[in-house]
Amino acid sequence: MSLISKRVVFGALAFSFFMYSYFVYTTGTAIDKGENLMNEASKKGKLVFQKYNCIACHQIYGLGGYMGPDITNVISENGKGAIYAKAFLTSGTKRMPNLHLSEDEINELLAYLTYIDKTGISPVKRFKINYDGTVSEN
Ligand code: HEC
Repeated sequence: MSLISKRVVFGALAFSFFMYSYFVYTTGTAIDKGENLMNEASKKGKLVFQKYNCIACHQIYGLGGYMGPDITNVISENGKGAIYAKAFLTSGTKRMPNLHLSEDEINELLAYLTYIDKTGISPVKRFKINYDGTVSEN
């Protein structure tokens, strides 16, 4: 093989190596951190959430108080949702105090809870490694 064709082959291989590496290490690495979901209403909702200290009793993303349930996915959970959450926020229950929130505050909280729901899952799923090396949900 002449020197020139060796160089062509080497160049082609080096080029494919770099292209291959580029695609392997960059494909699917764009992370949606939920910036697009954080709109005006959910920003206000976050402040309302802090003002009433909901985190004292509730967890979001698995962190917070344990008097009430984790509300990370209350908006998308089966049998729950925005209307369900609104009922708790409007009247409270025997265990959750009625915080006398205004209609605006409730809607902002719901926007914030929607943002939370889209950006996290809680409780984190647990997986079990079986004796044959396969993985199943616990
Ligand atoms: C004093 C503690 C306390 C505070 C403060 C509190 N909650 Fe609750 N919350 C609870 C308890 C306890 C429950 C469960 C009530 C029940 O099942 O009767 C609950 C239930 C809920 C639910 C229904 C959850 C589900 O999965 O069933 C939502 C949504 C909720 N709270 C949102 C909020 C928000 C938003 C705030 C802040 C504005 C807040 N809570 C403040 C104690 C609290």
